[in-house]
Amino acid sequence: MRAALLVANWKMHGTLGEARALATSVRDGIKRPRGVEVVLCPPFTALPAVAEVLAGSPIGLGAQNCHWEVTGAFTGEVSPAMLADLGCRLVIVGHSERRQHFGEIDAQVNLKLRAALAHGLTPLLCVGESADERRQGLTFTVVEGQLRAGLGGVSPDDLGRCIVAYEPVWAIGTGVNATPTQASEVHGYLRGLLSELASKEIAETVRILYGGSVKPDNAGELCREPEIDGALVGGASLQAQAFLGIVRKAAARGGATPKE
Ligand code: PGA
Repeated sequence: MRAALLVANWKMHGTLGEARALATSVRDGIKRPRGVEVVLCPPFTALPAVAEVLAGSPIGLGAQNCHWEVTGAFTGEVSPAMLADLGCRLVIVGHSERRQHFGEIDAQVNLKLRAALAHGLTPLLCVGESADERRQGLTFTVVEGQLRAGLGGVSPDDLGRCIVAYEPVWAIGTGVNATPTQASEVHGYLRGLLSELASKEIAETVRILYGGSVKPDNAGELCREPEIDGALVGGASLQAQAFLGIVRKAAARGGATPKE
């Protein structure tokens, strides 16, 4: 069984002081995680401070975005090599806010994902349909297009190093989460595509997270679905107690904890 993974996406929140305090509370609340992995993705500016807080703890560090080149004249950008240098192990690529507000297209997402892999980072590829697309019955078409494009040119072995997050745009920051059934059917579909792109064995190892208004009171039922391997959490990850509540619910997911 795939161990559950909880990724906190702090988005553009947190001065250094706030980031240190939040990371410290999360770290102190998760001494010995069982059956669950946790990664915090603070804004770039807080990465070194959060890295310091998390040093020696089982909680990983991740970033919310990256460029695809190693160095160069790309004002305002941060390369995967720089993130790896700071101790990041994961980077989110293709988040819908990047696609919506910054015009990021699939081809760029693919370059970022491959650059992340090349620098030993785990890419967390986000896919998801808008409310309109769902109404028009385009959910599977949209997520399939994003998944295939995002993973284009990636070898089966490298595909096994990726994580996917299904984040319906209509569920992000709205308080309206996808139901476990809605999420499960998309996750199942994505896993089928991963089998086709790599192999059934590799697809079975790839974690597919759900994201979009995950809270302590819905995390349990979402994470109990066999196809949902954890969550990408935005708003609720900014409050230590709420995030810890989600981590506990995910850890309690059947079978994730090795049986004695
Ligand atoms: P949310 O955000 O939990 O605030 O809905 C999720 C995300 O954007 O990753």
